[in-house]
Amino acid sequence: MNIALVTGSAGLIGSESVAFFAEKFDLVIGIDNNLRSYFFGAEASTDWNRKGLEEKFSNYKHYKADIRSEEEINKIFAEYGADIKLVVHTAAQPSHDWAAREPFTDFTVNANGTLVMLEATRKYSPEAVFIFTSTNKVYGDTPNYLPLVELETRWEIDQNHPYFTNGIDELMSIDHSKHSIFGASKVAADVMVQEYGRYFGMKTAVFRGGCLTGPNHSGAQLHGFLAYLMKCAITGNHYTIFGYKGKQVRDNIHSWDLVNMFWHFYQNPRAGEVYNAGGGRFSNCSMQEGIAICEEITGNKMSYSYAEDNRSGDHIWYISDLTKFKNHYPEWTWKYDLKTTLTQMYDNISKRV
Ligand SMILES: NC(=O)c1ccc[n+]([C@@H]2O[C@H](COP(=O)([O-])OP(=O)(O)OC[C@H]3O[C@@H](n4cnc5c(N)ncnc54)[C@H](O)[C@@H]3O)[C@@H](O)[C@H]2O)c1
Repeated sequence: MNIALVTGSAGLIGSESVAFFAEKFDLVIGIDNNLRSYFFGAEASTDWNRKGLEEKFSNYKHYKADIRSEEEINKIFAEYGADIKLVVHTAAQPSHDWAAREPFTDFTVNANGTLVMLEATRKYSPEAVFIFTSTNKVYGDTPNYLPLVELETRWEIDQNHPYFTNGIDELMSIDHSKHSIFGASKVAADVMVQEYGRYFGMKTAVFRGGCLTGPNHSGAQLHGFLAYLMKCAITGNHYTIFGYKGKQVRDNIHSWDLVNMFWHFYQNPRAGEVYNAGGGRFSNCSMQEGIAICEEITGNKMSYSYAEDNRSGDHIWYISDLTKFKNHYPEWTWKYDLKTTLTQMYDNISKRV
């Protein structure tokens, strides 16, 4: 039997992975204990998504286990063993603002939880491909020291800089910068996943996400910027922009495009690889530009205000360079541009608010 195991299966990337791999594997096992509602409150609960997966996919099996618990995780792996061919590990505390509230919780979920997953895979399913969703926050605030220029609606990198054409590549240092507590716990996990590839020879890959987005994001003020922005545009709730004149730039990748990267890697895996994964030059926006698109799609004028202080360590301009991944997997490319993604989010969020 071929099994894909997905942690954080009710979250944005986890649920997209379940839907994608349910078509390709005999069984998809999901692990998610809805810790997201503990992090961000009831409005960010992912329980609606878990229920939907259970209804929609007859070959989906959900476990409400905690990735921090070796006992709970080992029990699941022991049951399925070598039948597990793919592990997609997305469960996390995903917000850098929240992490500072409870550094222990953040670290034990992001770092220890990843180690629990790696060890269980090594012990019970060592041939499995192991995919980890890391973050561009592992580069800390180093991108903020790039030569940036201010344009009318966005910050942009100097056009003579090598990053201008395609964005930031994987060779940027992850050292000597301010990461936030969240960024540091993700660095620990990111390096450990690489090590299980390099040291133990396992088929591990790290995908350092820019902004990951899609219709199934349970957006909250502290996490899921586009989903929360669209939610505010639909409901009329107030949105606060933090710093950088609202010109900070994010690249946004649709969850399906990211999971399709995982699929390409799975079919032809390597050991201990690292890839930047975002919308790149294909799909990106500044806060101001994102607001304008949300207003256009909803037909509503957004209520927003500007707070001078930026979030600590927040990026001013970040665009991912996917050249390395595209060189390794030339058949992969983006399918969803920003406007299509936001329109899908509009349709989906409208049904839930
Ligand atoms: N969304 C983004 O913009 C973004 C950007 C870069 C990286 N990432 C990374 O991608 C991954 C997925 O992000 P997402 O947006 O899908 O997050 P998400 O919050 O939507 O999903 C994560 C899921 O994991 C579950 N979870 C958390 N802790 C758990 C635990 N201890 N045990 C079991 N389940 C637990 C949550 O309940 C949630 O449903 C994360 O690792 C995140 O750090 C996300």
